[in-house]
Amino acid sequence: MKLEGKVAIVTGGARGIGEAIVRAYAAEGANVVIADVEKEAGLALASALGEKALALSLDVRDRESIGRAVDAAEAHFGRIDILVNNAGVFDMAPLDEITVEMYRRQFDVNVGGLIFMTQAVAERMRARGQGGVVINMSSQAGRRGEANVILYCAAKAAVISITQSMALELIRDGIRVNAIAPGVIDTPMWDRVDALFAKYEGLPPGEKKKRVGKAVPFGRMGLTSDFVGPAVFLASDDSAYVVAQTLNVDGGNWMS
Ligand SMILES: NC(=O)c1ccc[n+]([C@@H]2O[C@H](COP(=O)([O-])OP(=O)(O)OC[C@H]3O[C@@H](n4cnc5c(N)ncnc54)[C@H](O)[C@@H]3O)[C@@H](O)[C@H]2O)c1
Repeated sequence: MKLEGKVAIVTGGARGIGEAIVRAYAAEGANVVIADVEKEAGLALASALGEKALALSLDVRDRESIGRAVDAAEAHFGRIDILVNNAGVFDMAPLDEITVEMYRRQFDVNVGGLIFMTQAVAERMRARGQGGVVINMSSQAGRRGEANVILYCAAKAAVISITQSMALELIRDGIRVNAIAPGVIDTPMWDRVDALFAKYEGLPPGEKKKRVGKAVPFGRMGLTSDFVGPAVFLASDDSAYVVAQTLNVDGGNWMS
């Protein structure tokens, strides 16, 4: 029970990697807030986990929604110790087809979302004076650019940079900030990734997913269960001296 008595908020916690982190934290003794735009999916997961879980409606693009969710989480469980900024959206298009709306959505969710969530939660952590933990979800896409993926790669690179700057600022209050950079992980997000690569690279559906899985040194795509250990480690005192890092969880795709 590495997280006994802790309270965690996981954005985008209703499915995929976020759901695995929610389940892992609950199994380690934490109370967990599933904060997601897909409230129905969050409610279903919360009811499976019982009174240790609370599902809240949250759109990380909207600061009022953030304020309401953080207030409700604190009112329900009394404190917030851990924030996982996991909510994210993928998009891709050649340079000529990028629109202002695509640009805004990528940066509002993947970058602004984690800045303003952390702003709201860190304020409360500071007020309590007992520190805390923030984990941001980057991507291997943030380590290297990719043709036709300008916005997502840039947004996830920004997450690595923001993690470093936030960490240096917040560690003074005992708040540890780190990030995880997943590789290619078999989640609902990959349905969209595969469909977009099929469109822009002229591949049959399913082909991109097959190819990226084969190319991973480990020999397969990542599974959501591969995030249990890393996410618990970064949230727990086992990583007490780990600050401002981005941990690659990608089966060996990237080394840094
Ligand atoms: N799957 C991968 O291969 C992969 C690789 C690298 C990084 N990542 C990152 O990991 C994180 C989780 O990815 P996943 O594959 O589980 O994705 P997913 O699409 O399966 O799940 C994302 C969750 O975020 C929620 N969400 C989306 N927009 C939101 C918003 N505005 N406010 C609140 N919640 C919102 C969705 O409803 C969903 O529950 C994302 O940040 C993603 O960019 C995923």
